Amino acid sequence: MTTRSQEQLLVYGHFINGNWIDPNETFAVLDKYNGNEIARIGIASRQAVDDAISNALQTFQTKTLTPVQRYEILMRAAEIFKERKEELALTMVQEVGKVLKDARGEIDRGIQTFIAAAEEAKRIAGKGIPLGQPGSENKMAFTIRVPVGVIGAITPFNFPFNLVAHKVAPAIAAGNTIVLKPAELTPLSACKMVEILTEAGLPAGFLNVVNGFGHETGQYLLEDDRIAMFTFTGSPKVGRHIKSTTGIRKVTLELGNNSPNIVHKDVKDLDQAVDLCVTRGYINAGQACISVQRIYVHQDIFDVFAEKAVQRTQALNVGNPADPTMDVGPMISEKEAKRAEEWIVEAVQQGAKVACGGKREGSILYPTVLVDVEPQMKVVCEEVFAPVITLIPYSDIEEAFRMANETRFGLQVGLFTSDLQLAMRATRELQFGGVIINDVSSYRADVMPYGGVKDSGIGKEGPHAAIEEMTDERIVVINL
Ligand code: SIN
Repeated sequence: MTTRSQEQLLVYGHFINGNWIDPNETFAVLDKYNGNEIARIGIASRQAVDDAISNALQTFQTKTLTPVQRYEILMRAAEIFKERKEELALTMVQEVGKVLKDARGEIDRGIQTFIAAAEEAKRIAGKGIPLGQPGSENKMAFTIRVPVGVIGAITPFNFPFNLVAHKVAPAIAAGNTIVLKPAELTPLSACKMVEILTEAGLPAGFLNVVNGFGHETGQYLLEDDRIAMFTFTGSPKVGRHIKSTTGIRKVTLELGNNSPNIVHKDVKDLDQAVDLCVTRGYINAGQACISVQRIYVHQDIFDVFAEKAVQRTQALNVGNPADPTMDVGPMISEKEAKRAEEWIVEAVQQGAKVACGGKREGSILYPTVLVDVEPQMKVVCEEVFAPVITLIPYSDIEEAFRMANETRFGLQVGLFTSDLQLAMRATRELQFGGVIINDVSSYRADVMPYGGVKDSGIGKEGPHAAIEEMTDERIVVINL
């Protein structure tokens, strides 16, 4: 039995060597819309974390899955996700407060992530190395890619299915074993994924799960040298802590952004640009690293853009995330909604104007458009991580590029223009991991290499790129 029921409540402990282990201590997982307790989750002790790592290491050292077996397990899991899509989406609606249509979309993306990782499992390859150097005439060389070992995966609350998929599926595809620590606020999607992978044929020990809090359970993981690599998505603050704690071990860090989007005066379809900027600024209540935040609009089209953006924002349905007509649901907690509200109030005190929104009811922050903002305001220079967009006029494209680049972050940027030369110039001059032309910063296909520069992190995700990160390149030299 993978879970047990206490007075009908789902309880997940820790998943070690193919079994759910009853925890000594648990905490409540809440429905983020109505505050009801929906499950209880274990808090892993140091001993539980130690057991999970020991088992993952022993599995890595004693068992292997062939590339075809990895492919088949991941593809079978993708099939089960399809069959259980509605249940998985509803879990996310409750544990995140994500609106139903976005939750369904995230399951669809997670399925694609698994399929892409499955396909990659069959084509992990090294390369031939020509040794064109005196003294090497009788030698041939090539590289192979070998799994790194045990991977510690620490995942965030905002995409509890697909961002877990982006860590777990490539790690399995590459032949590693994993100890996963899901976000304490949203652990249920990950626990269900583990059950499904087991049903799909993943043998015991390849994926162990320890639940609990980052500063405790996460810290136990970081301190254990048997973990060869960490893959983390979350805040820059925690990313820095992970980097400084893990020494010379490998890390992939996907951190924040305060995503800029530039709408140039030659934009081909202004309505479409407005629609994308608005809807993608509020997706998951703005709680996405690449959520549209700073919108730089050429002064010739600024007023009309602003008017349309306000109209489009006011037309959004805000409320119960389980209602399929809703566009925006609650934030992850009232505390976070209050924090974002405070940033709005502070910006207004510093001269900004609320063009619409700005109102909060519990953990729901109404989608907000701010104008007359300045670069030093938190809503501009920090990652707002809330349904808040800022509109900023510019007079020439150099100014727009300069303002877009004036940030400690560098994950993704969007640019709308009909000018091919300008688009090409942007790919060189905008200092981000991804430059998206004629779509917004939040565009992401799951096969893409995805990762930032500067404080946005190091390393790339997307199954092909993640497998490169999760394998070591080994040189083989043969003296003929
Ligand atoms: C993120 O918030 O880092 C992920 C966004 C996405 O995958 O769409």
